[in-house]
Amino acid sequence: MVVNRVTGLPPGIYHYRVAGPNDDGVIDAGRGHALEQLQDGPLGDAVAQAALGQEWAANAAVVFIWTAVFTRARWKYRERAFRYVYLDAGHIAAQVSLAAVAQGLGSCQIAAFFDEEVDGLVGIDGEDEGTVYMTAVGRPLTDKRA
Ligand SMILES: Cc1cc2nc3c(=O)[nH]c(=O)nc-3n(C[C@H](O)[C@H](O)[C@H](O)COP(=O)(O)O)c2cc1C
Repeated sequence: MVVNRVTGLPPGIYHYRVAGPNDDGVIDAGRGHALEQLQDGPLGDAVAQAALGQEWAANAAVVFIWTAVFTRARWKYRERAFRYVYLDAGHIAAQVSLAAVAQGLGSCQIAAFFDEEVDGLVGIDGEDEGTVYMTAVGRPLTDKRA
């Protein structure tokens, strides 16, 4: 998550660590879901630039960057792994959109981005793990037509 303006969370980039085994495969019951800060500071401009220069993304309260570790799907789904990865990204982004609406917020999906720039922001190589989608969430501007 690229956090720009979220109460209680300093601006920066955060990794959502799922509960489960650590890097050595050991399950530690005390190791639950957590946000791990990867970078400090306002990075709205950087994420907007990486999103093909879509300037509105710089002002979003938070931009979710959905990445996939491809081997996690490939060991099971083989040649269908990409299908599962991309469908899963769509499902999770849709859930975030619904959660945003439920909280009176707006969201916009982002598929237009420079792969290497976004991967670089979150420190992944684009091969073993790559960015597949992004979702910006924030307070929508009031629709003046309404
Ligand atoms: C797969 C996908 C990729 C999208 N990528 C972008 C994008 O990069 N930039 C953008 O402004 N909107 C993007 N959108 C959002 C669509 O433009 C948006 O759904 C459309 O404008 C309708 O929005 P509304 O239903 O809120 O009016 C994407 C939507 C989808 C489903």
